[in-house]
Amino acid sequence: MSVTVRVPAKVNVQLAVGGARPDGFHDLANVFLAVSLYDEVTVSPASSLTITCSGPDAGQVPLDRTNLAARAAELLAARHGLSPDVHIHIAKDIPVAGGMAGGSADGAAALLACDTLWGLHSTRAQLLSICAELGSDVPFSLVGGAALGTGRGERLTELEVGGEFHWVFAVADGGLSTPAVYGEFDRLTEGLAVPAPAASAALLDALRTGDAPSLAGALANDLQPAALSLRPSLADTLQTGTSAGALAALVSGSGPTTAFLTKDEESARSVAEALLASGTCREARVASSPTGGARVVGA
Ligand code: C5P
Repeated sequence: MSVTVRVPAKVNVQLAVGGARPDGFHDLANVFLAVSLYDEVTVSPASSLTITCSGPDAGQVPLDRTNLAARAAELLAARHGLSPDVHIHIAKDIPVAGGMAGGSADGAAALLACDTLWGLHSTRAQLLSICAELGSDVPFSLVGGAALGTGRGERLTELEVGGEFHWVFAVADGGLSTPAVYGEFDRLTEGLAVPAPAASAALLDALRTGDAPSLAGALANDLQPAALSLRPSLADTLQTGTSAGALAALVSGSGPTTAFLTKDEESARSVAEALLASGTCREARVASSPTGGARVVGA
């Protein structure tokens, strides 16, 4: 008996970041959009908790208890007085340490898979509370679609999306550490008055109407200067995609993956080709949004 859950990556179409809080986190207005790049997480009974990972970037994925998938199994088991004796296999297609919430996705997927395997029937609210404990982006991986995350990003309000958006994601060589990017944000904003983060009305409107040019005009990521400061070569990738016809380009979350919004699927393919040919990225992936959150695809 095993259970498989498919879970999407995300892009932040708006990431408004406030000043550092006493707990070290930052208050956010974080508009998440789920995109059609997926990991698949399979759990099966085992004599102890073990993890394996397959896929081109599997070598970069931690296979110990720091993996959010393992932590999800442990937290859920602890809440029910169970022992987390499962084998977790992650079939990884989401870029690793890329700002697309791949690790968070695996946490949400493992949580749903274990809940199903163990027949616990947790409510969505119970699962979301464990997700929030696992990390700021994990609740969104469970929910998918589009949502505004406030607090440290874990308090979600689902958003309406009126159409399909087409994207290219340029995968960079090597990852960026999320805490390091937030640290660089703090350094760059030191001594400045950082405004309280707020969702942009124009951006929410563009999502509601499904209008790609309007969304392009409203895309914003406050972490982008920090990611560019740590990885200046990303500016070339962004420039290459916009020169090739993307409506807009931005760093995805804390990076270093860069995201390009295009007017349609055909344009996404030609932007992806130009990005690959330029040598300014390791890989260029075409995807669309929105897509659903974590769901059981096999049991
Ligand atoms: O919540 P998560 O474990 O994904 O966060 C990883 C790191 O990113 C945190 O330790 C913190 O340094 C930074 N972070 C932050 N403010 C947020 C979310 C994350 O400073 N709202």
